[in-house]
This record gives sequence, structure tokens and C-alpha cells, in this order.
Amino acid sequence: MGMWTAFKRKSKTSEEEIAASNEPTLEIAHRSITPQSSEPLLTVKGVERTFQVGGQPLHVLKGINMELLPNQLVMLRGRSGSGKTTLLNMLGGLDQPSKGEIWFHSLPFHDLGDNDRTLTRRKEMGFIFQAFALMPLLSAWENVELSLRMAGVPKGEWKQRVAHCLRLVGLEKRMHHRPFELSGGEQQRVAIAKAIAHRPRLLLADEPTAELDSQMSAQIMAVFQNIIATEQVTICMTTHDPTILEVADHVYEMVDGKFV
Ligand SMILES: Nc1ncnc2c1ncn2[C@@H]1O[C@H](COP(=O)(O)OP(=O)(O)OP(=O)(O)O)[C@@H](O)[C@H]1O
Ligand SMILES: [Mg+2]
Repeated sequence: MGMWTAFKRKSKTSEEEIAASNEPTLEIAHRSITPQSSEPLLTVKGVERTFQVGGQPLHVLKGINMELLPNQLVMLRGRSGSGKTTLLNMLGGLDQPSKGEIWFHSLPFHDLGDNDRTLTRRKEMGFIFQAFALMPLLSAWENVELSLRMAGVPKGEWKQRVAHCLRLVGLEKRMHHRPFELSGGEQQRVAIAKAIAHRPRLLLADEPTAELDSQMSAQIMAVFQNIIATEQVTICMTTHDPTILEVADHVYEMVDGKFV
């Protein structure tokens, strides 16, 4: 349910994360570091991830190198089971590599503890899931507002920001609808508004168009491009859809835990 939980395999509830995040060990609560636009926002070096399954090691990621630059739309593509979600969870600091390094601008995610990664995530990242992950009893407006509350944005700023984000995704006429009163594409656009409301620098999306038809998928991609142009955000998403790949600045093709 929470927007800060892992994409597919939930690692923690948002309540646990909020509780855990009260005592940062590093001064990262403030957005003190603004990378130059030419510097990578995120750098992955030689990342491996091995799971223990039934006493046997399962090598899922086998030496990943990648870079996300500011204001880029980057896509991860690959067959089911190739390791896309595993990698995306790692980029968001929801999981840590068995080997290798992940730098979120100057922060070593591979070295940071849970609390510091959680704080960074809450301030600087947004997540979009395949199945929308909206709070079912809250309206579109309230869903977006919740994200501002959780990121610690001052209450006085909420109204303007919520209205702005819902306008950005073209839902100004549906603000007071609850999720079940919205179409699939509209729900996903609320999820996008919710994910960008607190002005994250990185938006991670796991198959955000998988449950949508091609016209709605195209709409979502148009919204993504608009967000990149106006909100200073980098988007990294996974997809199976070849027609969507065309709008990417860069496509990483994953085969069996490696890029090809
Ligand atoms: N926590 C875990 N423990 C054990 N094995 C795992 C774990 N997480 C992922 N795996 C395995 O790692 C492989 C890659 O999984 P992952 O979810 O990253 O694939 P994916 O590329 O996202 O696939 P899909 O397109 O189906 O979403 C799978 O074989 C999966 O079973
Ligand atoms: Mg996946």
C-alpha cells in the first residue's frame, strides 16, 4: 500500500519506514547537494546481487554498470526474470547489492544504512508501480496530498502543489474522484502526480504501462516527457512494450542479469 515499499516484494511498510527514519545518522535530510546538470544523478558500478534460495546461491544481477543523467528518460528492457525489478529496487535503495557500488549523486547507497537510504528516498525519489498503489478510500487530491505529508512538506504548500501536479497529469477535472471512480489510465496519472508531488530528483517506475492499452500508455509517456521538461526529474522505468522504447533517451537491454 505504501508508496515507499518495494515494487513487487514488499520490504517494509511505510509506517515502519517512517518510524525507522526518525534518527538519521548522516546530514542528508536537507537537499544540500545539487549536482551539475552534466554530472550523473545515479551511478552503478559492477553491481551484483545474489540471493540464497534453498541453501544455494542464485546470481540474479551479474555485474551491472549504468548511469542516469539529470532530466533523462531511461528504460530497462528484458525478459521476465532477467532482473529488472531487482535492479530497480536497488536504484531506489530498497535493497543493497551483494557486490559493487551505487552512488545517488554523492551518496554511497551501497554503504548507507536503512535509515539514511529511507530518508533520501522520501525526500528525493518517487515510485510508480504497475498496479497504481493508490489509497482506495482517498480522492485523487487526498492521495497526492498524502505524499506531501509523508515527505514533510510544510502544510501551507500543499494546496498549490497538489493542484499543480494534478493539472500536470491532466486530471484537474477528476480531483475529487476516488480510485474506483477513475479509469486505469486516470489512476496511473494520479499515481504519477503522487510520485512527483514532493519534487523528487529521480522517479522509478516498474512497468508503469503494463496494465494500460496502447493509447493510454502513449498518454502516460507524454506525461513523463512533460514532467522531465518542467520538473527537473530523471525517470528510470522498466517496460516490455517496444513501441514505448522509442521515446527513451537511453535503453538498457537486460539478459540474464547483465546488460547486452
Ligand atoms: N528475494 C528474492 N529471493 C530469491 N530470488 C529472487 C528474489 N528476488 C528476485 N529473485 C529472482 O531473481 C530473478 C529476477 O527477478 P526480477 O523480479 O528482478 O525479474 P524481472 O526482470 O523484473 O521480471 P518481470 O519482467 O517478470 O517483472 C527471478 O528469477 C526471481 O525469481
Ligand atoms: Mg519485474
